[in-house]
Amino acid sequence: MPLRFDNQVAVITGAGGGLGRAYALLFASRGAKVVVNDLGVTTHGEAGGKGGVRAADKVVAEIRRAGGEAVANYDSVEFGEKIIQTAIDAYGRVDILVNNAGILRDVSFAKMTAKDWDLIMLVHLKGAYSCTKAAWPYMQKQKYGRIVNAASGAGLYGNFGQANYSAAKLGLVGFSKTLAREGERRNINANAIAPLAGTRMTETVMPQEVVDALKPEYVAPLVAYLCHESCRESGEVFEVGAGWISKLRWQRTQGHMFSSPTFTADDVAANWAKITDFTGATYPTSLQESMELVMRRLEEFKTSGAPAAAPPAAAPPT
Ligand code: NAI
Repeated sequence: MPLRFDNQVAVITGAGGGLGRAYALLFASRGAKVVVNDLGVTTHGEAGGKGGVRAADKVVAEIRRAGGEAVANYDSVEFGEKIIQTAIDAYGRVDILVNNAGILRDVSFAKMTAKDWDLIMLVHLKGAYSCTKAAWPYMQKQKYGRIVNAASGAGLYGNFGQANYSAAKLGLVGFSKTLAREGERRNINANAIAPLAGTRMTETVMPQEVVDALKPEYVAPLVAYLCHESCRESGEVFEVGAGWISKLRWQRTQGHMFSSPTFTADDVAANWAKITDFTGATYPTSLQESMELVMRRLEEFKTSGAPAAAPPAAAPPT
């Protein structure tokens, strides 16, 4: 049976073009009623984007021509409550939210202005917060929700000229992981994806043949699967592009346990090879799991009488 979204409502932000458009078309073709949000800005977040606010209308028209259901919304993602209200007014519910809208303000960190930083945080982080905040009470009440946040390889690995964008995109990974914990009891799943696709966002940094080959349609099936009711993944991160999908996880070295918490910087240097040796690495999946070793160690110190904390550092220079 093909995965369907009948009687479900999907809100896709930044769906007037690129990846968001591909998601909107796919959800609609599989029975979802779709809110196509797009402010119609340039890649830099300025007025005058290709198609302007009509970009959303065009995608809505495409969906309707194909026999699907959709409405447009032209608000900025900063005003998530208005976007979710469009879903409620038109269809009475919201089941799926894809926080996809995005802009770039690429510049080396030395030349980055506060505006470059703030605009990126506003659209990516505040935008995802604002839309999710507005959708969350509906999802909690109906005990069902599926959220996908658009992260990026730049956030996972860092990329020259993208300190602002990388910070926001990795922020969305942490956001997804915490939403997953808080949504668990009410069947609300949240995941993050790091897509790679040829869109206007990437056409200036990739050769045309690569842009043409990396179709947004090759990313959309993962987003649809993550938003399906049968999908159990939550709080996870996936890389996706060109017909390839992969899941990521944190990896931690065994590390080195010092005999006393009063070790020195010289002890750190002497044990550096062990601290950074990934042989026998572990894969913590929660904060509790990550803290387990340290908490056990504290208990050991308590029972062995060793000091529980390092001595206070030297007073800072005044
Ligand atoms: P795109 O530039 O084609 O589409 C982004 C859309 O978001 C545009 O239509 C734009 O008008 C809209 N938008 C921008 N600011 C908005 C706001 N404040 N409110 C509402 N809509 C707004 O870009 P693309 O490539 O489709 O990117 C989609 C998402 O995927 C973005 O979050 C991007 O950062 C992320 N991404 C894309 C990658 C790629 O390879 N294309 C790589 C990694 C991440």
